[in-house]
Amino acid sequence: MLHYYDPKQTSAPQHFLPERDYGTPARLSETLVSLEIDGVEVTVPEGTSVLRAAALADINIPKLCASDNLEAFGSCRLCAVQIEGRRGLPASCTTPVAAGMKVTTQNARLAKLRRNVMELYISDHPLDCLTCPANGDCELQDMAGAVGLREVRYGFEGENHLDAETDDSNPYFSFDPSKCIVCSRCVRACEEVQGTFALTIEGRGFESKVAAGQSEAFMDSECVSCGACVQACPTSTLMEKSVIEQGQPEHSVVTTCAYCGVGCSFKAEMQGDRVVRMVPYKGGDANHGHSCVKGRFAFGYATHPDRLKTPMIRESIDQPWREVSWEEAIAFAAERLKAIQAKYGRESIGGITSSRCTNEETYLVQKLVRAAFGNNNTDTCARVCHSPTGYGLKTTLGESAGTQTFDSVMKADIIMVIGANPTDAHPVFASQMRRRLRQGAELIVVDPRRIDLLKTPHHRGAQHIALRPGTNVAMINALAHVVISEGLEDREFIAERCDAAGYQAWREFILDPRHAPENVEAITGVSAEQVRRAARTYAQAPNGAIYYGLGVTEHSQGSSMVMGIANLAMATGNIGREGVGVNPLRGQNNVQGSCDMGSFPHELPGYQHVGDPAVRERFEAAWGVPIDDEPGLRIPNMFDAAVAGDFKALYVQGEDIAQSDPNTQHVELALRSLECLIVQDIFLNETAKFAHVLLPGSSFLEKDGTFTNAERRINRVRKVMPPLAGKQDWEVTVDLANALGYPMHYDHPSQIMDEIAGLTPSFAGVSYARLDELGSIQWPCNEVHPKGTPTMHIEDFPIGLGQFAITDYVESDELSNRRFPLLLTTGRILSQYNVGAQTRRTHNQAWHDEDVLELHPSDAELRGVRDGDWVGITSRAGQTVLRARVSDRMPPGVVYTTFHHPGSGANVITTDSSDWATNCPEYKVTAVQVEKVSQPSAWQRQFQTFDRLQLELLRGGAKDEAGQALSGARE
Ligand code: SF4
Ligand code: SF4
Ligand code: SF4
Ligand code: FES
Repeated sequence: MLHYYDPKQTSAPQHFLPERDYGTPARLSETLVSLEIDGVEVTVPEGTSVLRAAALADINIPKLCASDNLEAFGSCRLCAVQIEGRRGLPASCTTPVAAGMKVTTQNARLAKLRRNVMELYISDHPLDCLTCPANGDCELQDMAGAVGLREVRYGFEGENHLDAETDDSNPYFSFDPSKCIVCSRCVRACEEVQGTFALTIEGRGFESKVAAGQSEAFMDSECVSCGACVQACPTSTLMEKSVIEQGQPEHSVVTTCAYCGVGCSFKAEMQGDRVVRMVPYKGGDANHGHSCVKGRFAFGYATHPDRLKTPMIRESIDQPWREVSWEEAIAFAAERLKAIQAKYGRESIGGITSSRCTNEETYLVQKLVRAAFGNNNTDTCARVCHSPTGYGLKTTLGESAGTQTFDSVMKADIIMVIGANPTDAHPVFASQMRRRLRQGAELIVVDPRRIDLLKTPHHRGAQHIALRPGTNVAMINALAHVVISEGLEDREFIAERCDAAGYQAWREFILDPRHAPENVEAITGVSAEQVRRAARTYAQAPNGAIYYGLGVTEHSQGSSMVMGIANLAMATGNIGREGVGVNPLRGQNNVQGSCDMGSFPHELPGYQHVGDPAVRERFEAAWGVPIDDEPGLRIPNMFDAAVAGDFKALYVQGEDIAQSDPNTQHVELALRSLECLIVQDIFLNETAKFAHVLLPGSSFLEKDGTFTNAERRINRVRKVMPPLAGKQDWEVTVDLANALGYPMHYDHPSQIMDEIAGLTPSFAGVSYARLDELGSIQWPCNEVHPKGTPTMHIEDFPIGLGQFAITDYVESDELSNRRFPLLLTTGRILSQYNVGAQTRRTHNQAWHDEDVLELHPSDAELRGVRDGDWVGITSRAGQTVLRARVSDRMPPGVVYTTFHHPGSGANVITTDSSDWATNCPEYKVTAVQVEKVSQPSAWQRQFQTFDRLQLELLRGGAKDEAGQALSGARE
């Protein structure tokens, strides 16, 4: 039976809880040490600082330069203590505990020393506390109070820094050096937490000061605007502009970032319903108090004036929108859907779930399709990113998900990154990876591009396997060939954990000389010597971990490559413990969740096949309707069927298929062919411009639910403000189901999760109460694993034995294309997110306000192209025009762009070539020609006209002559 979850009845961190700072990081030693602090016996792990030991016993020693996410530095001297038998007054932050130590934290001598320290700081500090933005949240102020400072004997007239100029170059935070106490917390945060090393302390003594880069403005330095320094600063020197403008927050709610698959936890710090700032939550299991520029700063889109706040309908896409009530919009949509099914049949409609919405919302959309539409025509944007991960990992390891926690990387000895760019796409995890690399782990990057991870400061040289795009499978086979032919395999693991017959067949296949590195050199462009070295490094390391991204999946052989990676990991025994594993870096915040929740046409929630009668029976009993036993249409099939006239209506929740899917012109044609397109989104996105019904969506700040990150971690999303349009997304789906005559009723998303748990074995133990109790849960979570499963496949695989798969390399059609001699590959950058609908409506535009085409100097020279020139990029699918950036990050013959701006038309060029098993598009390899041009492409001109028209129609503006002429322009 469903129960009502009452957030007020739980111990969830709902209200303002300043997180305790224990001064120095925790130590993990199993050896315990006992000491006495102010007469209190304290027992802590060996290596713990006296400062932390005291804090753990609730004895607060004043401190300024110490923080528990940074190694102790010992510069401020405020934390001095007296230790029996030791001379002087040592700093407690840099003094480790010792057995039997007797520590005094308060006496007259210490009090005098601390007051003197504070007096010196304050004598060079503007005393404008009442008007300072940090008033009420300033450690300097707190410490002045804590040490009882009452006078400053030195006066304020001497030499000081009070006139130092403020650096306001960063759109999100300011740097006011007049307030700086040179504690170096910012410098250490940039080094230790973020791993960017953008800050230094310049000069010595009185002259010492914090500098970004080579004494540059923050925006001109290598700073990536993660905000770790801002968070670390104990004064208002580095301060969020939102706090300067709005003042201090008064309460906070813990929630989850809605951007990437890292799934960082944040405290949304609020004034009433208004977010003042997002502060990464130290208790977050995925991020441990760190974040990137998107999660921390780019939340302004949620209240952007472009937000859709009223439901709208129209008969056809050249008509102005008509604002209507929720009831009218839902009734209009339901009537249309019913009429279309009556006319064209049950299979003529479908739905697309969103990887940005919550698990509960995604679950409801696929339930709506299966139960109310009566077919399995449901799919999700994972179709265009990680569907090969689902297929490949399920086939080999038996589960469609990564095997590890992010923290597991701290035990990896060799980290192999294939087709992923973590510093841009998964920045917080990249910082953790860099920490491990600085500790000495080795790095192998398999990627055509020289990604930034290769430039990790203080890491000895990495191996870069710069293969030709589209040759991944040849490469993974060559790596495996070396492992097996040189006897580097883990025989014990293979014998105990893997299917013997399957292994023998694979072994014979992989030993074939055609896979020898010497024989694939011509295919991949990588020397045999390099491949052999990389294979040996990976196979011989105690712990080898593989991380991969869309550079693996978005290929015609994406599924083969995923299986090839799993083969390599199994062959070397790198599965089933910390520090190893096969880890897909999922792109969007809830792409793992949208797959888990049954978005694919062939699988019900929990990857349970619709063809399995026992599975269907359970769902039919719970949902009260028969479920079609045939898999439904995938997204590309929906487009083809729409163009063919068989598919007539589509409900799209939180997804911009017109911008994100390949072969834009084909997608547009499909959308135009629909008789009813219902779009539920927070903005008028590119897809919505083809819609007949607009249902305003709610941002992550306006809803309750859960997201599941790339490590299978289910995190709570908590509502911090009311939905701008009055409804959370799940409520809209419920209304639509009811209007269609399929009854749905939930009072709270926790009830939806209870239903999911009842039907999905891997979620059986998940509930909101359990999530509040544990903070987060990595599925599977059930009777056997009541607290979830951080590491998968420890003893066996869900399919019993690991299955080696034969992964023959098949050349992509795109590679043999002579008319188009260059290969285009696409990717993301740090400041923008996916189709950019959110980040383009924030100050993140300051870093990337247009997509450009990167090309190698030799390719540029051959075509007479200079940096900044306009270039036309043509493939067999279409043409677009971008500004050129000449860069040697790409090898000759390969060009690169991003797809964050709709007018760039990156997907006008990408083709419908796709993965053989899952139809995932081959975004990473498109054969193109590049030439200098002087005007936008025909598609771009049509795009601009259509865009103008649709914005006009949104405002209720005139359609008539201009409207019809303009809308016709893009047909
Ligand atoms: S900017 Fe802040 S954190 Fe950095 S040295 Fe100055 S006071 Fe310390
Ligand atoms: S914002 Fe991040 S990258 Fe920039 S200086 Fe601060 S810590 Fe370093
Ligand atoms: S975008 Fe990703 S890495 Fe950045 S804060 Fe959000 S979840 Fe974390
Ligand atoms: S807090 Fe220990 S020296 Fe600053």
